[in-house]
Amino acid sequence: MKTLEPCTLIIFGAAGNLSRIKLIPSLFRLELAKRLPEQVTILGCSIEVLQREEWIAEIAKMLEPLYPQGLDKAALERFCTRMHYHAIPPGDDAAYLRLKQMVEGSAIFHPNMVFYMSVSPAAFPDIVDKLGNAGLLKQTNGWRRVVIEKPFGYDLLSAQTLQSSLYKHLNEPQIYRIDHYLGKGTVQNVMVFRFANLLLEPLWNHHYIDHVQITQSETLGVGGRAGYYEGAGALRDMIQSHLLQLLALVAMEPPLTIAAEHLRDEKVKVLKAIRPITQNSVHAHAFRGQYSSGTIDGKSVPGYLEEPGVAADSTTETYAALKLFIDNWRWAGVPFYLRTGKRMAEGSSAICIRFKNPPQDLLRKTRNGPPQPNWIMLGIQPDDCMKMEMQVKVPGLDLHTRSISLDATYRKHTDEDFDAYAGLLLDVMQGDPSLFLRIDEVEAAWRVVDPIIKVWAMERDFINTYPAGSWGPRGTYRLFDRDDQFWRNSLSLDGADLQAY
Ligand code: BG6
Repeated sequence: MKTLEPCTLIIFGAAGNLSRIKLIPSLFRLELAKRLPEQVTILGCSIEVLQREEWIAEIAKMLEPLYPQGLDKAALERFCTRMHYHAIPPGDDAAYLRLKQMVEGSAIFHPNMVFYMSVSPAAFPDIVDKLGNAGLLKQTNGWRRVVIEKPFGYDLLSAQTLQSSLYKHLNEPQIYRIDHYLGKGTVQNVMVFRFANLLLEPLWNHHYIDHVQITQSETLGVGGRAGYYEGAGALRDMIQSHLLQLLALVAMEPPLTIAAEHLRDEKVKVLKAIRPITQNSVHAHAFRGQYSSGTIDGKSVPGYLEEPGVAADSTTETYAALKLFIDNWRWAGVPFYLRTGKRMAEGSSAICIRFKNPPQDLLRKTRNGPPQPNWIMLGIQPDDCMKMEMQVKVPGLDLHTRSISLDATYRKHTDEDFDAYAGLLLDVMQGDPSLFLRIDEVEAAWRVVDPIIKVWAMERDFINTYPAGSWGPRGTYRLFDRDDQFWRNSLSLDGADLQAY
């Protein structure tokens, strides 16, 4: 069980979206689970000028809709006693000195401090600089840690520039670069699945694996985030961070131990082994698309270009798919297909691993159609699950085969359910950086996507579209190495789910 030292958690952008939707609800979830020690205090900082009572009333408003059966009043009261507020209006630099006086001049605030940057990425360096100049990042009395949300830069160079600005005031162990996918149950389960089960290890390589698919699809559109998304696009928003992290966990070598540095060393090694995509080969390795209007859950939804804040001639991609190769002994020649999209047919994230066919097709006369390979599938959301597909004999007098799915879904309905942010917040408070990104991981991931970003940025006159509610643009099959490779759109055993685009 994770134990926490007492500390003060200071959230910048506390009144913003991420904080309202993820951070405050996750902290309250920890309160309900009695995982926050008494001396944990939470100080919200935002541009609005609010009194503490008004902030507390806001918090109750954020939480109430999440508990339609009624909020646990005692827990809410405990939670609210931890809550404080400090306004930092734009341009008011003196607010940082007032913050220092507030937190250092009162026994309410423990000198161990986490500063969570839940703000627009452009504001990260400025806030850290002001905290540093105010002396709030010095670890003379208690530790100081800073959580940096994604995206960490918008390409390799800007990530390195951001890093240099952070290093003026912080050292590496103080920086927690968050990727919330690493807080998801199944994502951590990839490691358990691989390293606690000997039976998979002999198969986990290019001798037996045909290819790996990693998919993240959502039915939501860009919503109110066009300001950020127009400059980011799906490749930066999802692939550079979340999907490459999933790839690293699937493909890395067993670490020496599960200590943070050993784990991260192995992830960096595999990210560095990804074959660089040259600008000339971008079209053979990457495909982008943008959603047009369509239907989701029976409702008509607008296309990306009609969304508020999106330029009429925008070529920002809302769908991106890549084919990557990892040039090391384990994975030589195995394609890793990654794809992500907004306004897709379903919201789901999964890792699907397809095995090769047996070397001799002894049973070809026992079935109609091509051989059915084995699959191992790790569902991340909406349900965390694990499935394996195998061939068996159909009962009866004749020798016919059919595919079956072994369902090793491990979640019981009585198991506790926490959002990814809850575990990650606990990790920061207890000083465990295992599930946070080290700077060399971030740099290696930018090196993978940078050439694609450059080519796409130059090609601004055309982008493929796909109707909202579909599985993405036609034509992404171009990425596949062979005719018998298809996107796997569902984890259920149904041939119709294997679609050709
Ligand atoms: C965020 C992206 O990091 O992840 C969003 O910025 C995306 O665009 C989200 O919607 C997806 O996260 P999840 O946990 O809903 O799959």
